[in-house]
This record gives sequence, structure tokens and C-alpha cells, in this order.
Amino acid sequence: MTATLLSVEGLGISFGGLKAVNDVSFSVPSGQIVSLIGPNGAGKTTLFNMISGIYPSATGSVALDGERVTGLSPHLLAQRGLSRTFQNLQIFQSMTVLENAVAGYHLQERGSVLADLLALPGSRRRARQSEEGARHLLARVGLERSADTEAGNLSYGALKRLEIARALALDPKILLLDEPAAGCNAVETEEIDHLIAEVAASGVAILLVEHDMKMVMRISNHIVVLDHGEKIAEGDPATVSRNPAVIAAYLGTGGADAQR
Ligand SMILES: Nc1ncnc2c1ncn2[C@@H]1O[C@H](COP(=O)(O)OP(=O)(O)OP(=O)(O)O)[C@@H](O)[C@H]1O
Ligand SMILES: [Mg+2]
Repeated sequence: MTATLLSVEGLGISFGGLKAVNDVSFSVPSGQIVSLIGPNGAGKTTLFNMISGIYPSATGSVALDGERVTGLSPHLLAQRGLSRTFQNLQIFQSMTVLENAVAGYHLQERGSVLADLLALPGSRRRARQSEEGARHLLARVGLERSADTEAGNLSYGALKRLEIARALALDPKILLLDEPAAGCNAVETEEIDHLIAEVAASGVAILLVEHDMKMVMRISNHIVVLDHGEKIAEGDPATVSRNPAVIAAYLGTGGADAQR
């Protein structure tokens, strides 16, 4: 039996008159890959932003590893084991690959950036430990030989893997990935696919947003479908891909409403 790591209940938020996310509930067990899919504007990134503490959710609750964490800041959620990547690449292009990976360690320590700039003794020790950890992570994502390369010179697929490496520096219990294969070719997508499966196999819960349906169908244990901010279906890949409401949402025939 796998324990529920993330549980969201009745999450909702409005922007002006628009209900971007409306009463959405689902859960993600440890070591499993749950994908959140839906057409453009369905509310996937908004839901990520609510779960990761960027938007305070107007309604609903979030529990992480059995504890209620609703309303906590991204920093506190990161300390409790929730890590994420962003739909728009957030890599420092003029820094090396290693420096980018090391940056992941500093996301978990408040005040460490200033201490590091001042090169305080504790921060030098920490820097050594972070570098060791970062090299280990780069090996895990297949970038160990690019450690000293300027990040801006990496291929797109490698940049996406670097972003995952940096998110893993937090040693997360759950990893939220917002379109990790966007802009990648088939080979790069497959590498990311394997990496995500490997991270899940190590016991981390994965919540994935991805438009590449082949990838989603291949690696997901469970799929949650959003349309116009509402959950219209969930289940295993085979069941979801046969669901008429899901097919209608993707064909743009009025989405869930057309099926009711
Ligand atoms: N900060 C904001 N202010 C106002 N409206 C917003 C804001 N963020 C998102 N929205 C709106 O909420 C809806 C959901 O957007 P969201 O970015 O969550 O969609 P998405 O499912 O991630 O789409 P995509 O697949 O294109 O990334 C859209 O109509 C969007 O315009
Ligand atoms: Mg999005």
C-alpha cells in the first residue's frame, strides 16, 4: 500500500470574474506519477501555484505528508519537502551548469545568499557540501561532464534536466514538474521520461503537467483532467483516454459542458 503524500481538497481561486480553478480535489501517493492534463488555460499552472504556495488559495486545503500546509509560503513548503520546476525555464544562462545546480541548495536556507556573498566561515563549509551534492545530482541527470559549461550553451533538453537536478537539491518528498518536456525533441523527451521514472522509483511523489500525451500515457500511474478550471475526469491512462468528456475537451467542442 502506498501512502498519500500530497492531498488537495476543494481548491479554488478566481481572478476577477474568472474561476481559474474550481473545487479541485485529488491526491498523489509516494513513488507514483500523477499527471495533471487539460487544454491551454485549463488551470494547471494556477493549481501548481496554489499547491506550491505562490498563490494563497481562495478556498480549499492542501496536506503534505499528513499535515495541513494550506497557506504556507513556498520557502516553508520547500523545507517540508515540496519542490517544483517552472513552465518557463528558470536557469541562470550565464552561470555554469554546476553553479546552477549548487543554487538549488541555497533555496532551502533563508539568509544563506547574504552569508555566501560575505563568504562567512560556515558558508564556505556549506558551499563545499553543496558542490559535492550538486555534482552527484548532475551525474544523476546525466550532466556530470557538462559541469563547467556555461548553462546558455546547453541543448534545451539538457537545460530541462538541469532544472530537475536543481529541484532535487531540496531532497523533496514531492516534485511538481510544469511541462518538463516542452520544446524538447523525441530523444530529449525520452531522457526526461526516464529521469522522472527514476525519481519516482526512488520513492518521490511526482505531480506532472505535460502536453506531450504520449509521454503522459506512458509514465503516469494516474491522470487528473482539468478543463475550464474544473476536474472533469481522473483515473488510469487507459480509462482517461477513453473518457468522452476528456476527448471533447481536447477537441474543443465545448469541453465538459458539452457532455453534461
Ligand atoms: N495571475 C493571473 N491573473 C489573471 N488571470 C490568470 C492569472 N494566472 C492565470 N490566469 C488565467 O487563469 C486561467 C488558467 O491559466 P493557467 O496558466 O493555470 O492554465 P494552464 O492550464 O497552465 O495552461 P497552459 O497549458 O497554457 O500552460 C487562464 O484563463 C489564465 O488566463
Ligand atoms: Mg501552464
